[in-house]
Order: sequence, then C-alpha cells, then structure tokens
Amino acid sequence: MSETHIPVLRNEILDFLTPSPNRVYVDATIGLGGHSFYILKSSFPTGRLIGIDLDESALAIAEKRLHPFKDRLILIHGNFAELKSLLDAFGINKVDGVLLDLGVSSLQLDTPDRGFSFQHLGPLDMRMDVQLDTSAAQIVNESTPDELIQIFREYGEERYAKQIVHHIAKVRTETPITTTLQLAETVEQVYSKKLKHSKEYRKNSNRVKRIHPATRTFQALRIQVNGELNNLVRGLDAAISILKPGGHLCVISFHSLEDRIVKQKIRHYARTCICPPKTPVCICEHEKALNVVTRKPVLPSQSEIDANPRARSAKLRVATRV
Ligand SMILES: C[S@@+](CC[C@H](N)C(=O)[O-])C[C@H]1O[C@@H](n2cnc3c(N)ncnc32)[C@H](O)[C@@H]1O
Repeated sequence: MSETHIPVLRNEILDFLTPSPNRVYVDATIGLGGHSFYILKSSFPTGRLIGIDLDESALAIAEKRLHPFKDRLILIHGNFAELKSLLDAFGINKVDGVLLDLGVSSLQLDTPDRGFSFQHLGPLDMRMDVQLDTSAAQIVNESTPDELIQIFREYGEERYAKQIVHHIAKVRTETPITTTLQLAETVEQVYSKKLKHSKEYRKNSNRVKRIHPATRTFQALRIQVNGELNNLVRGLDAAISILKPGGHLCVISFHSLEDRIVKQKIRHYARTCICPPKTPVCICEHEKALNVVTRKPVLPSQSEIDANPRARSAKLRVATRV
C-alpha cells in the first residue's frame, strides 16, 4: 500500500469516532491499517487500539505500518464474530468505539494468488483466512446445482443464477473449474448469449457502463466461502455489547446485503420495545441499546470516488451506545 493511500471515508470516520487520548478503540477489520493509522495518530499520546483481521498477511502489513504506535496497539488474528472473547483474552471488556470496514482489502483484491478478482489469473480461492477449510473452487466443483443456484441468488442477487449454474455443471464434467479466469469466462459466456439479443442490452450498451458479468457470482462465492453475512450479524451483536455508553459503532458496507443487515441491526437495538404491533402491554423486556446517529447512510464525496473508485459503493452507518 502506498503511503498516500487514504482509507474509505477517513474524515467521516474520524469525525464520528473523535479519537481521543485515554480511550480504547477496536478496528475489527484492520486490513492494511489505513483507518487505524489515523485513529492512533488522532488519539496521541495514550489512546489504545485493538486491531483484528482474519487475514494474517494483512496483519503483517498493518504491524509494519503502525510500528510507530506499537506501544498502544494490540493486533489479533481472529474473526470479529468472536469479538467479545477475543478481547476478553486481553482483559478488555468495554471500549469507546468500534469500526467495521467490511469486505475485501486492496491487498486481497490485487494479489492474484488469493483468487478474489476476476481480472487476474489465480487459483479460485477467496479465503480471507487461509486456515479455512473450503475454497471457492471446492464450492464451485463440489456443490450440487441446487446449492450453487441458491448461493448465487441469495448472496449475489444474480438473475441468471440458473443459467450460470447449468453452464458450470456442463463445463465441470469435462474439466474442474480451478482458476478465477475460468470461472469469469464461464459466466461471461452465459451473459453474452443471454444479452446479445436482448433489447435492454442493445439499448443500454452504448450509454451505461455495465458491471462485469462475473461481479455478482464472485461476490456470492466470497460471501459463502467466508461466511460473511453470519459473521456480520454476530460481529454487530458483539460490538454493541462491548461499547461503553456514548461509544460509537461505525460500519462501512459495500453492497446491499451487508447494508441491510447493518440497518436492521441498528434499528432493532434503537427500539425501546419489540413486541408485535397491537400488544396491549409491553412484555418483550427488550432494552434500547443504541441511538441512531445517521438516519441515512453517509456516502463518499465525488472527489473521494474520483481518487479511489473502490469507494463508490461504500455506505457508512453510525450509532452510539445508550
Ligand atoms: C476493506 S478491508 C479493511 C481495510 C482497512 N480499514 C484499511 O484501512 O486498511 C476489510 C478487511 O476485513 C477483514 N475481514 C473481513 N471479515 C472479517 C471478519 N469476520 N473478522 C475479521 N476480519 C475480517 C478482511 O480480511 C480485510 O482485511
């Protein structure tokens, strides 16, 4: 990562978290340490930060980058779904702010060997934690067609899921699909056949910059391989449970499935009662735990998107602990 790399929505995150000395922050997706660098810098000289990531190679880079702050930093290889027990192991049970910057890091996307990108030739892997048992190739080659259709529909919202899986099933009987480009090509073949004759395609092809046909398939596989949505649900519950009153939860998501979970979780914890409508007297014993800070998600400015096109789909939601 270049020294000039600026993490997504950096200024907005710093404005909400307001990092200060003597406070404790968790960067639950530390990646290459971009946000953490600024949190540690702004909380000089005594603010502490715990950085967590599934990816050991990212942690090694973050460690180097954050070396100047090493006395105020704890790095943990782990899953934010286990946030509470990861912090317990260090005797930390309450913190002043938690940041989740979801999705893949630029390191993961730009390293062909990790298999996240349909633009680079690499093994079809996609494991954020290389200790995970199952790679994307195993899912593509070993799942039943019905299982694959469900993954592509549910996690990719892919409208041609059935046709793509049908084609994958045909291809893999001849040769297993083991590389990123093999899969991208298989999906592209379905799209070009489907869309060539469609009116919508011809109408839009000169005007609309379409996303790559394999985008949704790759997203779906990545989510499945890493259990991303389940981790997010558990990670949000854990983050809310460890925040001190007034502490901030900041979550940056990059697609609608993630954003929906974040929005619903924050809404759930911001309610005073979750009894079904028309229940005469409250019986739920639900306790309001959050105040919503951002009614609508905060989006990157056009100048940020121009400087970093990967920021274009980012959405930031923030809430504070009651
Ligand atoms: C978008 S990157 C974070 C970039 C970071 N904010 C920065 O500025 O460098 C997301 C990171 O979250 C990590 N990650 C994703 N899911 C995780 C999980 N459940 N637990 C821990 N880390 C996770 C990924 O490995 C990746 O390094």
